[in-house]
Amino acid sequence: MKYGFLGAGNLSSAIIMGLLKAGFRSEDIFVSSPHSAALLSKRLAINNVDEDRLLADCDLIVLAFLPEQLGSIVQQVGSEKFANKLIVSVLGSTSLKELTEFLPTAKIVRVLPNVNAEFNNSLTSVAFGQNLSNEDLKLTKNFLQAFGTIIELAERDFPAFSAIAGSGPAFVALFIKALQEAGIKQGIDSKESLQIALHTIKGSTENILQSGKTADQLVKKVASPGGSTADGVESLEENHFIETVNNAILATINHGRKKFR
Ligand SMILES: NC(=O)c1ccc[n+]([C@@H]2O[C@H](COP(=O)([O-])OP(=O)(O)OC[C@H]3O[C@@H](n4cnc5c(N)ncnc54)[C@H](OP(=O)(O)O)[C@@H]3O)[C@@H](O)[C@H]2O)c1
Repeated sequence: MKYGFLGAGNLSSAIIMGLLKAGFRSEDIFVSSPHSAALLSKRLAINNVDEDRLLADCDLIVLAFLPEQLGSIVQQVGSEKFANKLIVSVLGSTSLKELTEFLPTAKIVRVLPNVNAEFNNSLTSVAFGQNLSNEDLKLTKNFLQAFGTIIELAERDFPAFSAIAGSGPAFVALFIKALQEAGIKQGIDSKESLQIALHTIKGSTENILQSGKTADQLVKKVASPGGSTADGVESLEENHFIETVNNAILATINHGRKKFR
């Protein structure tokens, strides 16, 4: 099985690193792009080929360029080269309907991974096109599960998923930074403060995942009435923490709507 990436940017790089960690062979991975592919292929010892060879030789092809480039790239390569190919599109805002208009004879899967793919920890949403065989479904799931967990979602939920899971790593990183800076302000060394923030978030996530508790239940368990945590939670609530995060998600979704309407 050979895997081709049209586009060699941040997401391709993260997915390919995840695949290699999962045991995929570097000689089975192909990448093509005007500039970055050469460097990425050198760095990861994978194959750098032109689009024609990639489309001819690969069994599963990932579209990993920018959504607005779809028309020009299909025109440049020729839509007939995608005929009957298994195509996995990561193009954030491009629907299965639009993909099918450009690639009417391809077998298309729309997915939204995130950069945690690099550490085999992407949460990837998946929507399958209509003409896929059971074998195509199996191959695609094996591919996606190599770099994380998949969740089948209706396409109407992709914008919210994209804002929470796709852009989310940036928001979580900001919360990590906020905890780290609070530690630094209290006199803790920067490196130690980062470790404290990271392990607290990791441990809390594992706690909820493994116990099956809700987030609220964990809050209650830590913040006993009248205790110090309760004062901290109250301060976050007074400063509209939940509403602030919700507004960030809305702003992210609305940006996508404005840009790609
Ligand atoms: N980054 C994320 O976390 C994330 C999450 C979910 C979905 N996505 C989606 O993933 C896609 C890629 O995102 P990214 O963050 O990886 O973007 P990026 O870092 O800007 O990479 C874009 C890539 O497209 C390549 N490209 C441009 N013209 C091309 C052509 N004619 N043929 C082949 N490749 C071409 C560029 O190649 P050169 O560098 O060689 O010019 C570059 O490698 C986007 O559609 C985005 O919506 C990204």
